Amino acid sequence: VVEEGGSLRTGRVGVWLVGARGSVATTVVLGAAALAMGLCRPVGMVTETGPLARLPLPRTRDLIFGGHDLSREPSLSKKACILAEEGVVPCALPGAVADKVEEVESRIRPGVDPHGDQRSPMELVDRVREDLLAFRSDMGLSTVVVINLASTEPPPDPHPAHSDPDLLARALGDGYPVLPASSLYAYAALEAGFPFVDFTPSAGIALPALDALARKRGVPYAGRDGKTGETLVKSALGPMFAARNLRVRSWSGVNLLGGGDGAALADPERARSKLRTKSALPEEVLGYKTESPVHIEYVRDMGEWKTAWDHISFEGFLGIRMRMQFIWEGCDSALAAPLVLDLARLVAHAHRRGESGVLDGLAFFFKDPLGASEHRLEHQYQLLCRWAAGSDGA
Ligand SMILES: NC(=O)c1ccc[n+]([C@@H]2O[C@H](COP(=O)([O-])OP(=O)(O)OC[C@H]3O[C@@H](n4cnc5c(N)ncnc54)[C@H](O)[C@@H]3O)[C@@H](O)[C@H]2O)c1
Repeated sequence: VVEEGGSLRTGRVGVWLVGARGSVATTVVLGAAALAMGLCRPVGMVTETGPLARLPLPRTRDLIFGGHDLSREPSLSKKACILAEEGVVPCALPGAVADKVEEVESRIRPGVDPHGDQRSPMELVDRVREDLLAFRSDMGLSTVVVINLASTEPPPDPHPAHSDPDLLARALGDGYPVLPASSLYAYAALEAGFPFVDFTPSAGIALPALDALARKRGVPYAGRDGKTGETLVKSALGPMFAARNLRVRSWSGVNLLGGGDGAALADPERARSKLRTKSALPEEVLGYKTESPVHIEYVRDMGEWKTAWDHISFEGFLGIRMRMQFIWEGCDSALAAPLVLDLARLVAHAHRRGESGVLDGLAFFFKDPLGASEHRLEHQYQLLCRWAAGSDGA
């Protein structure tokens, strides 16, 4: 910990991106480098505004990146050029930050896939843990925040070991493939004593056995599934209907998206994970059940862009029926990347302050907030500010 400008600051903090060569991860690396070099403003970063800006968080330029990915191609620098061609980042940016991107590329290790590897699950956990510990010692980091940005997985089949950390350790030690890759990464992070963030709808750390392990190891975690687009709008708009006692009869959503995320979600099994985190919201926000179908369609031509069309049918005084529709056209990685930087800073801060277990105060960032039942955006922001006030300077 070093003194800087009158406030306590952490030293360099590691950010380990699982899915490090994906669109979101590459945008995170490019964006952090651009911010460090003063080439852009921190638009979209919540930690740069309001009470969060007063917290002694690690500075974005003190975040050091590394990660795992299953695929070697495209490399991070090639992916950066693809994103520039698609207009996700300014076309001159990959060239301007090429050295920093190369440095991160040299710290990307082969990812793990329990279905495509001969090694036992515990050997895979050990390998990930060793990679994480080597990253911390090689780079002289105060801690490492592990953030899952890998392709969405199908939901795992339920297993009794998911609820009991001792049973889980035994099952993994005996070679049973009871955890999907996302949860192996979470397990390895906790075993290394590092916080974990799940930005995806995969199982990740959302298993009771891993929650118990996090608390036992004194490590904080947060998740899951970053709230960046259609669901963000729903969580802001839904409370309006509830507060005005306008009865929502149905809330339907259609999402068209391309990119690697869209391609992964074209698999109906993987889409089940995403649909689960996206569909619960109207009921949670309105307080009653309503018809709320959500569809996800992969349209390769859309590349990194997403269009969501929502149709809301509602009822007013004397049973008069009305409709509202909105269209959201977002560049997903540009919406996600600043939130990933926010989460890295906030979770590192929570770890330094000795918080452990689920960080329910960070519900604001997620579609399926772990540890919190609050889905209304404004209320989530109040929770976040209260969490910040509780941890500010104490
Ligand atoms: N962009 C958003 O707004 C947003 C919002 C919420 C959630 N997410 C989630 O973030 C994730 C990343 O999205 P993206 O657009 O970057 O996807 P992407 O397809 O571009 O990147 C995913 C990366 O994960 C890698 N990967 C797959 N399995 C892996 C494993 N077992 N270990 C290590 N790496 C692995 C892939 O090789 C790929 O490089 C997705 O799960 C998506 O649903 C994105």
